[in-house]
Amino acid sequence: MEKIDYKREDLKYIWHPCSQMKDYETLAPIVIEKGQGIDLIDIEGKTYKDVVSSWWCNLLGHCNPDISNNVKKQLDELEHVIFANFSNKRIIELSVKLSKILPSRLEKFNYCDNGSSAVEMAMKMAFQYYQQTGKPKKIKFMALTEGYHGETIGALSAGACDLYTKIYKPILMDIIHIKAPDCYHCHFGKNRDNCNCECFCYAQESFEKHAIETCAILIEPLLQGSAGMRIYPPLYLKKLRELCDKYDVLLIADEIATGFYRTGKYFACNHADISPDIMCLSKGLTGGYMPFALVATTNKIYNAFYDDYNTHKAFMHSHTYAGNPLGASCALSVLDIFEKGEIQKHLKEVTPYFNNLIKEKFLNLENTGEVRSIGLINAIELVKDAKNKIHFNSKLRLGYQIYKKALKKGVLLRPLGDVIYFNPPLIIDKKDMDFVVKVARDCTIETLEEFNL
Ligand SMILES: Cc1ncc(COP(=O)(O)O)c(C=O)c1O
Repeated sequence: MEKIDYKREDLKYIWHPCSQMKDYETLAPIVIEKGQGIDLIDIEGKTYKDVVSSWWCNLLGHCNPDISNNVKKQLDELEHVIFANFSNKRIIELSVKLSKILPSRLEKFNYCDNGSSAVEMAMKMAFQYYQQTGKPKKIKFMALTEGYHGETIGALSAGACDLYTKIYKPILMDIIHIKAPDCYHCHFGKNRDNCNCECFCYAQESFEKHAIETCAILIEPLLQGSAGMRIYPPLYLKKLRELCDKYDVLLIADEIATGFYRTGKYFACNHADISPDIMCLSKGLTGGYMPFALVATTNKIYNAFYDDYNTHKAFMHSHTYAGNPLGASCALSVLDIFEKGEIQKHLKEVTPYFNNLIKEKFLNLENTGEVRSIGLINAIELVKDAKNKIHFNSKLRLGYQIYKKALKKGVLLRPLGDVIYFNPPLIIDKKDMDFVVKVARDCTIETLEEFNL
């Protein structure tokens, strides 16, 4: 094949996601050729530590030998088959395994191919459930402010990060947004570890007013990722479960970013010992290998769709790649790896190390507003004035400057605004932790000095 100038051809043809393409004039796309563990190696041989797990999906390292071998075997057996009326061995094996690890009552599984599609499916399912159980007025959705649930219209409507939604407002659904917990700026003067979730009053008010017309509330349990890794207490989830039961509103847990030990437990809902009515999973489900997603729900909801064909109660929702056996074979490997327990042991050992290291290295910086962590996820919120919690002017793009510097030093950080965060593959070791934290700290200091901040 003719020799390709990859960077040039990339820019000639490709429109990258979530990017101002003009930025690529000064920072060309980094073309990755190989992945191994937490390392990404580009076509020039430079290594980058992937501490954002390639958009939070890579769970157990790039080119994990167990997952790769399983997919290779599957490739020679069956790549895909229609999922209506047909099924395949891998997806059935996966469903059996999932039934054993998911929070109780989640026993029916509907598959699709990405996180946003899973959220759309969950929303349609919740809506149709009430249409078919005698409460047709329940047609609205609630969600938390600052939430993120994906990019398709329904998921985007449920989300509330202005950066992604603002321009589309005229075409978005009318969602009831409840003021989310904001522990860093707590309006009740409390702190995350000892509050009684006083901010839950906003949810209570909204339920009193709108529950009668609401079919479901969507939440990112414990961690509002895209909002800047905002962490809130499990008590909020417990209270929300009770409120949903009281007012007959379905609880949709979007665990797309939090599932599979990202928060230290299998699922974020486990921290509060609650089970949602519908759970969305993707990203780590396949270890980050394949576009693949799951909407898990209860028999109660499933049964509302189960009737003779001519009652038209079926869930007429489909995606071409639903139930894909390659995705299922990856997910099976992931669950097998967790079954062995080695990753959990590793996490027990390295998580306190990582969290303490980050506190030690960042809490003493003048511009650190807060360091927060859950599982291996750690976020450092940089502010102009820590005492008064005053933020930097977003036009400075402080996080982006830090990102560019860190790339030069071989670390793939991808700050969310002025929040630097780590969300690495769970296999990261202490040596890499030391390295990536040092680079992040050095780059932060250099950037702040350069900007004279
Ligand atoms: C909580 C949450 N929900 C939904 C999504 C959307 O998933 P996808 O990008 O696969 O559509 C994301 C992606 O980052 C997410 O973090």
